[in-house]
Amino acid sequence: MPLYKPSNMLQGKHIVVGISGGIAAYKIPALIRLLKKGGAEVKVTTTRNALEFVTPLVLEALSNNKVYTDVFATGNDHTTEHISLPDWADLMIIAPATANIIGKCANGIADDALSTTFLAMRKPVLIAPAMNANMLSHPALQQNLERLGQYDNCTILPTANGFLACGTTGDGRMLEPEEIILQAETLLTKQDLKGRRVVITGGPTREKIDPVRFISNFSTGKMSVALAEECAGRGAEVTLVLGPCEAHPQQLPLNKIKTINVESARDMYSAAVEASNDADMVILCAAVADYRPSETAEHKIKRSADDGGSERLQLNLTENPDISAAIAENKHDGQRLIGFALETDNELEHARHKLHRKGLDYIVLNSLRDQGAGFGGDTNKVTIIARDGRQAECPLESKRQTAKDIIDFVCR
Ligand code: PMT
Repeated sequence: MPLYKPSNMLQGKHIVVGISGGIAAYKIPALIRLLKKGGAEVKVTTTRNALEFVTPLVLEALSNNKVYTDVFATGNDHTTEHISLPDWADLMIIAPATANIIGKCANGIADDALSTTFLAMRKPVLIAPAMNANMLSHPALQQNLERLGQYDNCTILPTANGFLACGTTGDGRMLEPEEIILQAETLLTKQDLKGRRVVITGGPTREKIDPVRFISNFSTGKMSVALAEECAGRGAEVTLVLGPCEAHPQQLPLNKIKTINVESARDMYSAAVEASNDADMVILCAAVADYRPSETAEHKIKRSADDGGSERLQLNLTENPDISAAIAENKHDGQRLIGFALETDNELEHARHKLHRKGLDYIVLNSLRDQGAGFGGDTNKVTIIARDGRQAECPLESKRQTAKDIIDFVCR
């Protein structure tokens, strides 16, 4: 799981964290720290049982706000807090959500600070269940989860499989704070791509020489995964056609990303061309091998010292089909095509040439001469060029931020 890196999506957002009484409550101080680090303002409400696992002092010190636990407390404004907190909040996160609080929220029972706050909340609520595997699979709990998931503003996160506090192993672990926060960011993101279909190619391709060797390049797929997560976060249905690499999108409920894993340029061509038929936007981020061996040897090619080997090996290469050109040829009205150009010299000139030659609407230029740009790392530095001559230079930034800048630019 990649470590969460604060983006600017939480900046200035008001988040209520609701903690109920499960052992996973010990992870919530870390969640609050991450939210604060991302620039959010945090207020905390808890059930009484939650305070068996975390102290109000820790929660107050980290959130810089008083903790709201007692609906009937005197001498403060807590009696109306269950109304003012939901008014104040952009988002509520209930974590950990025990079977008890899930039951109450699902059935409209409001008998403590957390459940009353939930019932008055009309903004999005993210619920991160955590409990023993048998409790989780009980039909009563499953019914409550289903009911809760039907409320418009509620998003239920999955649980993870692993070691549970009760000493057993199974399903029921709360997601890690980093995973919860990524989903929180998605819920807070504007949904300007809702209902749109986006196809993205990414990663390298592999062109087989023999059963054990191939021609490829240094692409890690990170830039395409960042684009897929950005588009999905903005509400799009994304198809990611991904060459062989380790990067993969977060598989969480709010990410509508279908990944099609491919190996060679020709595999990528078939998958991407087919998926693009009804796409509103196609982003060609893959580093596709321009050539493949004209023939793939059936058996491992031997060295000269071994039987049948030779001191010189000559490979005949055949040009691969151009995926972007094929998609551009069938481009339909309103479809946006965005290509990438990875250059090492005369960058702008080459990029502009590719933009026109390939029939693209935009091209995103990254240069290997810029440190921290291009292949491999978590950052990129790009210039976005539109066919109509508009141009934007983005600074060195995280690939996720680059993805956001690209989508902002092309959706302008
Ligand atoms: O994966 P990362 O490690 O995160 O790195 C990201 C990246 C550097 C790979 C990415 O930012 C990038 O620049 N991708 C395109 C790299 C490239 O090979 O560009 P190109 O100049 O060869 O191709 C130009 C465009 O045509 C690209 O949109 C490419 O996807 C597309 N193309 C190329 C050849 C081909 N046969 N079919 C294509 O569609």
